[in-house]
Parts: sequence; C-alpha cells; structure tokens
Amino acid sequence: MLIKNGWVLTTRLEKKDVAVDGTTITEVGTSLSGSDVIDASNHLVLPGLVNTHTHLAMTLLRGYADDVPLTEWLRDYIWPREMNLTPEDCYYGNLLGSVEMIKSGTTCFHDMYFYPDQAVKAVKESGMRAVISYPLAEFGNPERAGHMLQAGLQFMDTLRTESRIDTSFGPHSPSTCSPEYLLKVQDHAQKLSKLVHIHLHESKDWVENFSKAHEKPPIEFLESSGFLKNNVCAAHVVHATDKELDILKTHGVKVLHCPSSNLKLANGIAPVASMIKKGICVALGTDGAASNNTLDLFAEMRLMTLLQKLNDPSAMTSRAAVKIATENGGTALKWKIGRIEEGFLADIILIDLRNPCMTPRHDVLSNVVYAANSSAVDTVIIDGEVIMENRVLKTLHEEDIVEKAREHAYDLVNR
Ligand code: NI
Repeated sequence: MLIKNGWVLTTRLEKKDVAVDGTTITEVGTSLSGSDVIDASNHLVLPGLVNTHTHLAMTLLRGYADDVPLTEWLRDYIWPREMNLTPEDCYYGNLLGSVEMIKSGTTCFHDMYFYPDQAVKAVKESGMRAVISYPLAEFGNPERAGHMLQAGLQFMDTLRTESRIDTSFGPHSPSTCSPEYLLKVQDHAQKLSKLVHIHLHESKDWVENFSKAHEKPPIEFLESSGFLKNNVCAAHVVHATDKELDILKTHGVKVLHCPSSNLKLANGIAPVASMIKKGICVALGTDGAASNNTLDLFAEMRLMTLLQKLNDPSAMTSRAAVKIATENGGTALKWKIGRIEEGFLADIILIDLRNPCMTPRHDVLSNVVYAANSSAVDTVIIDGEVIMENRVLKTLHEEDIVEKAREHAYDLVNR
C-alpha cells in the first residue's frame, strides 16, 4: 500500500508518501512508488488514536444514568444492570463501541469488562487492535478471586498467538482487590510480560477512605507493597500529591487519563501537565460510554488540553495533546504504534483537510485538537488494512449493529 502525497506528521508537518508492506510502515519519503495507491493529497496523515481505558460494552448504558456521584452511579444504576448482562449484550455493546471508535479515528483500545471473550470476538470482526484485560475483583471472596485469576490465565493462553490482540490483567481497583491479591496478579503479569490495568485515585472519597483504612495513601501503600512496576497502567490518577507523582515516575507507572469521565462523575481534574513535566507517560482514554458519554478521542483531546489551561495558556500545546493521544498510547500499551515512521505498525488515519472544521490551515495540529470532530476522519487503516474508506466501514455492518445494540440496551435496562 502507498499513501501518496499527504501531509504527514513526522518531526514537523510535511508532504510525504507513506509506504506500507503488510502490517508495517516501511518507508516515509518523497516520490515513492508502489501499488494499492491511496491519494492523500487533501489529507492529513496521522497515527490512529489510542483509547487506553474503556469498558466498551458499557456503550449499551450510554445516557442511562447522568448527574450522580461515582458511588451512587455504580451502586444504584450500573451494578444492578451489570448483574443481568448476557454475553450477547456485551457482544453488541462491543460492536457498537467499535463502530463509534473507528468512525472517530481510534484504531487501538484497552478494554476492561465482563465477558472479555465477547470483546475478542468483536475485535476479530472489526479489524481493530486491542489489549483486552481479563477483569478481576475480589470483593472479600479470595476463593472466587483465585478461580477468576485461573480463568484469566487460561483466557490469555488461548489468545497468545493473536497478532492484533494482546491481553492484560484487569484487577478492578485497590478497593475491590486486597493487597495480597494484587501482588499475586502482579507476579503472574511479570512472568508473562503482561500489563496490569487498574483504576487508581479516581474519587477523593475513595483516596481518603483507603488512606484511613491502610494508614497510607493508596499510591504510597502500593509502592511499599511492591505492586507498582512499569507494567502498571493506572486509570484516572485524579488526586495525587507531588510526592505521589514522583513515586509513579520512579516506577514507570503509566497514567490513563480520562478527563470527561472525571468531570462527569465530579471526581476532578488530573494534574496532567505536572505529570508530563515530571516525565510520566500519560495516555488518553474515554472510560466507558456510561460515564463520558462518547468514545470520541477528539473530544477528549480538546477537553484535556483546555482543562490544563485553567491558569496557564501554555500548559499544553496541540502537539503535546496529539502525542498523548497517539504515541503515548502506544508506549503505555506496548504496541509499536502511534508514529508515522519506518518500522511502526500501520495504524493510520486520514483526516480530510477540506472539512470545514479543518479550514483554514494556519495550524493544522491546532485544528486537530481544538476544532476537529469525527466527521473529518475519512479513512482508517489498521495493521495495514483499510477498515474505513470515505467514512464507510468495510468490516462491520453499521446499520445492523446500531439496530441490534439498541434492542439489547432496552432489553438490558428492562430485564
Ligand atoms: Ni474505568
């Protein structure tokens, strides 16, 4: 495949050709020749966006419960519905989420939810790239949690030869998993070279309660227990002191920042600019569509950048925001994605520069962060395969999926 004559973001924006052989970018240059040519002369060629924290099947609960705090949201709305989830609900929730993500330029995601086999099924059909976490929670029942961990290991084993799918451990949070259980999970993760995907420092109440119960704030506690390592992907980290950020940096913990969800559940604003300054790898996520309520990373990039500018307009540049949504996502999830560069996997999106939101072009990256919406995403390539062309999905039947997902969503809340 040859993506011809597009504006390519390398060290700067320039007109380039991008050659792809199989799944990989083999050359970025000028006057390249090849077959399967895609004319990108009116397009910006960007790495696909990476959604590093979501619960994709929760797309079925989009708009189901707004305007309540986290604890009430979970206890009164989300958990009761989740008790009645079926694998088929999750399958259609995953497909609906996949349609939305592909159409808004996301090529890779990191999921944590019930029936992870259904996420795998959807990913195989959609052609997306994903890291699927096996969800783990103890809830004071170590025996059951032990069985879950064994099931998780089996799940990972069955997927070890998949090329576009990786797996990770998904212990829900330090409030639903004991320190001993977390260490056991981390031990397996180290042996298998897998990520550990966990919610951390999401609400202020939670941090305070944990600190009271364990006589140390969670990040300090997890450090002293030996849990924090560079394979830990911590979603949220809204409330963290300077000292706690230093601890995360020391251990190479990746932060999965979900600004919309944090605001919507009144959890606050994560100090992303400080994290970046300290050299922490921050990547972007939407969280589930029940607490966002979209899976659109353009919206998330814009919100993230604006929130960091509360007191300092120079706190985050457009270029830094794009890096967080692409390259840092690749770093956090340990895929060689997020750059248009020789040797990187060919997860690429073409943005139509003729779209009104991309016009004029005083600063194209500024347009991407502050003005673009998903309608500007014209073509999506994942692992060297065209998944969407002229905004038409090639792997999924959008109309059928929307219809089936709507049926399952109504059924789920009325069951
Ligand atoms: Ni979450």
